[in-house]
Amino acid sequence: MENTLNTSNTIGDLVNKIPGSAAVFEELGLDYYCQGNSSLAEACGQLGYDPDEILKGVYNTVPETPSRCERDLSKANMQRLLDHVTEEHYGFVLGATPLLTQLIKQVVTRHGKSHPDLMELQNAFFLLCGDFGHHMLKEEKLLHKLTRQVETGEEMVNLCDGRPEKQMEVLKQEHSNTINHINEIRRLTNGYAIPEYACSRYRAMLKRMKKLELDLHRHIHEENNIIYPRALKILETSCSTPQNPIATPSQNKRA
Ligand SMILES: [Fe+2]
Repeated sequence: MENTLNTSNTIGDLVNKIPGSAAVFEELGLDYYCQGNSSLAEACGQLGYDPDEILKGVYNTVPETPSRCERDLSKANMQRLLDHVTEEHYGFVLGATPLLTQLIKQVVTRHGKSHPDLMELQNAFFLLCGDFGHHMLKEEKLLHKLTRQVETGEEMVNLCDGRPEKQMEVLKQEHSNTINHINEIRRLTNGYAIPEYACSRYRAMLKRMKKLELDLHRHIHEENNIIYPRALKILETSCSTPQNPIATPSQNKRA
């Protein structure tokens, strides 16, 4: 791969353009999902890494066959992006959480008396499930439906009143809340480290929690750094077109 990217590129952009970079950023603890607009230099500076060395490392660890999540989704059309998020990420969360709920209940029953911090873990997980379940419903019903309409040019009435932009801000804040919950789970499990006393269900629980964290990171990255900016661009273009009778003068100024 030709090294056309540099340390001033954002980490969200690097994840989109270099397959395998998300895995490297995960290991280094670089937040490419909620802070995807930070340049590699800024993100590395905060954690004391040398950005040039990290960029070299990212290029050198490119996997030969990118996984489905590592494909460059920034080139996909909006419909494909929305289908991807709905089928792959919503599907993953909806499949993973019932199993994890069962596992964590069993782990608390078996080890909770001698390890009361497991109750805290259960509470953090339930908070995550409750908040994110609500978020997915809202996103599917409001934002995704809305952006599909914008993409196809249908039912443009009421889309240029600023509400979609505000809704996206709220959804992005909910992503940050989700990351706070998952960070708390990571803290309580000591980075998903398996304790010596862990039974097979405990091990399975930690393994599944780690997978859930990874999926949520990718999911939030794709929405924050690809889908929302794309939707905002479409809205801005659609709402500032002079022929569009529903664009207000103040909205036309935004173009
Ligand atoms: Fe979301």
